[in-house]
Amino acid sequence: MTQKEIHFSVEVYKDVEELTTEDAALLTAARKVTEHAYAPYSNFLVGAVASLANGETISGTNQENASYPVGICAERVLLSCIASQYPGVAVNAIAISYDNPKGESDHPISPCGICRQTLAEYEERVKQPIRLIMSGMKGEVFIVEKARQLLPLSFSASDLV
Ligand code: THU
Repeated sequence: MTQKEIHFSVEVYKDVEELTTEDAALLTAARKVTEHAYAPYSNFLVGAVASLANGETISGTNQENASYPVGICAERVLLSCIASQYPGVAVNAIAISYDNPKGESDHPISPCGICRQTLAEYEERVKQPIRLIMSGMKGEVFIVEKARQLLPLSFSASDLV
């Protein structure tokens, strides 16, 4: 038996003030776009904003449905828009935020399992990692350099051959 170590590292910032101007602008946009979420069932409003390699900025929000499983997370709404509007274009960074009226929205959230899988495949498709900037409406910010880091030992297209 051998033991395999998988290293994971996340940058932790005290608040938005500690970020670069570019990252702060992206996070501020993600916080703002939570207003466009359609989440009447969970009341958990999520916003995600991407900065693309072609200079464009695209946003997505979670879109729920009375038939609950139909709902889509903000991250996958965003990636679907990007892939449809700008096929093949790399994503430099995505900022994710949320507004939860039942809480303080003061700590970072990270993408759910299905979104991690989707993010990893997008990185693979365009052969460029996506930096993830994760926060709430205020407080700490987490940054990871590659979305794939959130999904160690992941299943991918290479397993299908
Ligand atoms: N949600 C997202 O949009 N992104 C995440 O990273 C976590 C969860 C949504 C799904 C659902 O509409 C609501 O938040 C509560 O789970």
